[in-house]
Amino acid sequence: MGTLTICDHPLIQHKLTYIRDKDTKTKDFRELVDEIATMMAYEITRDLPLETISVTTPIVEAPSNVISGRMLGVIPILRAGLGMVEGMLKLIPAAKVGHIGLFRNPETLQPVEYYVNLPADATERLLIVVDPMLATGGSANAAIASLKSRGCTQIKLMCLIAAPEGVAAVQQAHPDVDIYLASLDSHLNDHGYIVPGLGDAGDRMFGTK
Ligand code: URA
Repeated sequence: MGTLTICDHPLIQHKLTYIRDKDTKTKDFRELVDEIATMMAYEITRDLPLETISVTTPIVEAPSNVISGRMLGVIPILRAGLGMVEGMLKLIPAAKVGHIGLFRNPETLQPVEYYVNLPADATERLLIVVDPMLATGGSANAAIASLKSRGCTQIKLMCLIAAPEGVAAVQQAHPDVDIYLASLDSHLNDHGYIVPGLGDAGDRMFGTK
């Protein structure tokens, strides 16, 4: 089973409160999501392998650590995942960015893929799928399955807020994928919204509706 990490750093939790607030305006919402994504990128890269090289300080030559050539990819699920990309790139600027677009078929309620564009060397990268809300897990599972069907094997999932139902669905379908959250909330309501949640992340981020 993949790990489930709740990024409970006080700065993340503080900013999360303000994106939950219904009175937070689009501009502030966007900035806060960006900042939280940067801080979560710090957590999600915690286990990147290091190698020791030699560095010459003004005093001596000494062994010192650098990241060991691990290549990363950030994969936002359109559209709300887009709001997390820039924040992550602040910490991992060499990462490449791929996109996965999904919509929900109104009859079957199943996610349907309408757009996939990945870095050419995606199969060699550690891919971090980003989407602010992990509700039923349908979109995350479809996105991860899409990456796997294209030969990608190293995948992590990063969301701001999840419902237990979504976490369970991803853990069941993709037990190899580690999940990173800022909060595990109570449940999904009858309309598929996370409770307490923050409402529709895409609408709040882009000022639609
Ligand atoms: N997607 C959202 O944007 N919000 C939710 O609460 C659930 C899914």
